[in-house]
Amino acid sequence: MKKFNTQSRRNFMKGAGVTALMSAAGSGSALGMGMGQSMGGSGKGYNFDDIYSRIGHNSVKWDAAIRRYGRENITVPMGIADMDFKQPPFVVKALQERAKYEQFGYETLPDSFYQSIIDWNKDRYGLDVKKEWIVTSSALKPGMISSMRGLNPVKGKVILQTPTYSGFTGAIHKAGMRVEMNPMKKINGRWHMDLEDLANRLDYETKCLILCNPNNPSGECWTADELRALGDLCISRGVTILADEIHCDFTNKGQKFTPYASIGEKYANSSISYRSPSKTFGQANLKVAYFVCQNKDLMNATMIGGGHDAGCNAFGLIACETAFRDGAQWVDDLNDYIDGNFDYLVDFVNKSGNMPGIEYSKPEGTYLAWLDCNGLMEKVITDDYRRYYHDKMRDQGRRHSGLTKEMALSEWIVENSGVQLNAGSSYGIGAEGFMRMNIAVPRSSLETALGHLNKALKAV
Ligand SMILES: Cc1ncc(COP(=O)(O)O)c(C=O)c1O
Repeated sequence: MKKFNTQSRRNFMKGAGVTALMSAAGSGSALGMGMGQSMGGSGKGYNFDDIYSRIGHNSVKWDAAIRRYGRENITVPMGIADMDFKQPPFVVKALQERAKYEQFGYETLPDSFYQSIIDWNKDRYGLDVKKEWIVTSSALKPGMISSMRGLNPVKGKVILQTPTYSGFTGAIHKAGMRVEMNPMKKINGRWHMDLEDLANRLDYETKCLILCNPNNPSGECWTADELRALGDLCISRGVTILADEIHCDFTNKGQKFTPYASIGEKYANSSISYRSPSKTFGQANLKVAYFVCQNKDLMNATMIGGGHDAGCNAFGLIACETAFRDGAQWVDDLNDYIDGNFDYLVDFVNKSGNMPGIEYSKPEGTYLAWLDCNGLMEKVITDDYRRYYHDKMRDQGRRHSGLTKEMALSEWIVENSGVQLNAGSSYGIGAEGFMRMNIAVPRSSLETALGHLNKALKAV
């Protein structure tokens, strides 16, 4: 199949009127969309409107929330970064085919697997990746742990630009390193890196910085200029950039993801990029990720770190290859859908009288909404509520030391609306009063969640 980059692909589809034709063709159309897909309410091709229950399937997002709060008390869990949509039908079909071959012994990775990664990077981001630069791991964090172990002095510092993904802290500790936070600044609604502060934090103990691009939780897609400024400082101080680009395939309309390795040879040569189909296609539990590095010394150091080395898994590699090979249209449609969810959310929050105590504007990428809940926090998280929350956690045998105001707010929101959000406090300095909402859900679930939340906030 001829390949298009994201923008030209979207334009091509629209220009040719194919979108309308596909919508009219209905389910099972053979317009190059893969077998068995359903056409739906999004009007763009693939259907993301259907609610596909995840309850009873050991879902962290749903079942863990239900175990904790009870089914009747959960409206929509919107925590962990995991989508509620069904797997692309062409991936399901490929997995079903694989299951027919009743052998699951050790396997090698075929060239076609690497080629799917190479093509995805070239087609969508214009990035040249060579097969020998790619190494797989079961997930992103094991790869990063390997790199940190290989590159850092014992108990060295790893820089996090906060607010940033909560899981980095655990990964840094597992690697035997320490976290050093370089808080970002929010200026005119957008977060900015603070390189002056960073320069003061880089010392002989600092060999790595984890860049999150697009940033989880705030959604910034860092520009080439921002990345170069960061890179110049890091290169001048001998710091390797570990570029976590797991959310790279989610950009809102008019926005662009810039791979760190694409901004120039010296930057590519002093960094390692970590990617995965897990967020893009909702394959987190198929356990395939990969990292890319063109610098042999950095790659060798990572190999010595060794934590990533879990081999490949039979289903994960099929899912990954199929998704990258055949999934461009699915991801384009998904991006349109999520962009629509963001528009819905922004309109809803900013409608006069709605969502008192919450401020929000549209982000550049990811499917995560970083809500400023400081107004709400002031009203509902009183000393009495914090005491009640602490005692409740203690009585339930849960962790009750180090509870933050944001955790209390998360509890308050579940108790009053059944909506589960992530507490900002786990994302580091700069996250005070913020909550993270995962909006990779069918529009109707988003409407339901916001309706419940709004009612709870108006009742305060
Ligand atoms: C930015 C970021 N990096 C890494 C991860 C975790 O990836 P993995 O499960 O592949 O280690 C997540 C999960 O939400 C994430 O948001």
